[in-house]
Amino acid sequence: MTQGKVVDLFCGAGGASLGFVKAGYEIVGAVDADPIALETYESNLCGEGSLDEYSGKVSFDEPLEADLSRDYEDNKVDEDLRTVTFQDIREYFGLSAGEVDIICGCPPCQNFSSLRDTEPWPEDQPKDNLLRAFVEFVEEEVPEVVFFENVRNILNAGDENPTTYIDWLKRSMGDIVKESDSPQNGGYGVALDVLNAADYGVPQRRKRTIGLFVYGYEDDEVSLPSPTHTEDATANADLKEWISVNEAFSQADSLYQGLEAGEKQVGLEGYPDDKAHRARAHHPSTIERMEAIRKRGDSWRDLEDTEDENLIVEAHQGLEKGASASYGIIDGERPAPTLTTRCTTPSCGRFTHPQKNRAITFREAAILMTFPRWFKLPSTNDDSERIVGNAVPPDLIQSLASRVSQSSSRTPLETTR
Ligand SMILES: C[S@@+](CC[C@H](N)C(=O)[O-])C[C@H]1O[C@@H](n2cnc3c(N)ncnc32)[C@H](O)[C@@H]1O
Repeated sequence: MTQGKVVDLFCGAGGASLGFVKAGYEIVGAVDADPIALETYESNLCGEGSLDEYSGKVSFDEPLEADLSRDYEDNKVDEDLRTVTFQDIREYFGLSAGEVDIICGCPPCQNFSSLRDTEPWPEDQPKDNLLRAFVEFVEEEVPEVVFFENVRNILNAGDENPTTYIDWLKRSMGDIVKESDSPQNGGYGVALDVLNAADYGVPQRRKRTIGLFVYGYEDDEVSLPSPTHTEDATANADLKEWISVNEAFSQADSLYQGLEAGEKQVGLEGYPDDKAHRARAHHPSTIERMEAIRKRGDSWRDLEDTEDENLIVEAHQGLEKGASASYGIIDGERPAPTLTTRCTTPSCGRFTHPQKNRAITFREAAILMTFPRWFKLPSTNDDSERIVGNAVPPDLIQSLASRVSQSSSRTPLETTR
């Protein structure tokens, strides 16, 4: 018997689903629009045997490829993909109404990313389309619990009006009432905050907005599970120390740590083949830049007094502010910085290996996201880094989901069947 049944909307390659499975839940449905992410989901999480080591399971053979946006007003929807209602999702996965205990939703975050703060919003891009659709899915099923994940900037991203999207989300969720309930008994109580994944045992300082909505509860009766890890455990004996990048790599089973740029762990004596542990090849000038940065510090800004101005890329020459993470070296003694969808591309952030003059490999990125060693990644470089950078770390969700029942101040939530 599992802890409860979960439908994972915007499931991507399955980071959140895997976290729920590790926490003992059954995933009864998963939907996304990205065929590569769904292929990755299916090859890792579906089928006999793949998750046997965990107490939870995935109970379908294939996730559903569909567009979860809606055609509100003049908002455009990709014509090649079908849009769905929750009833369609039920039919696809053979579920009956009211069977789902938890809806997990990670609507994509591009609209709220800090990188977009300075740019005008594209006219044709509806800012709240996916949030609205998400609330409508919840309204159709009204599960006991809803998990929500998004970038931290969603907390202050507003439309022309002063209400933030989160205010709107809280109010809309607070108004949802089951047909069989009176308004006083309905509505979702919410605990919502920016959490740092490192505080929950992930070797990455990934800060994300996490919301836990519980049906029939007031806001002050719901709380997010507390951290398990901290930067300085000497100050708090109940917590463990943050997991550093060096620790995460050295604890990863059969990971060859001597890999140079352009090499991969295939055919290496003493190591099992691992196609995802492949390092991008870099131009010799990039390797020279990495070497020079490492000698002087950890950022291209440390090169500013160099005589050889070719070491600084043209885009950075004379740049007074910003871009300081570009070509940066990861500090191996700390959890990694946030991995993005370009997390193996040195120019796009602090993604150079702590000891080697190369970007981290796709496997190393997956390890910093807490994906298990056996997790298969797409064969192309760009798909691999996008899939990994988009994911929710499974161990963050495992840590939160395994304590959902302790998160209300009343009786344990009745998510256990
Ligand atoms: C932040 S990622 C989700 C990560 C995933 N939940 C995990 O745990 O690994 C957002 C996902 O939303 C999907 N997405 C974006 N627009 C969509 C749409 N209109 N319909 C369905 N999925 C969409 C993307 O393909 C992407 O996989």
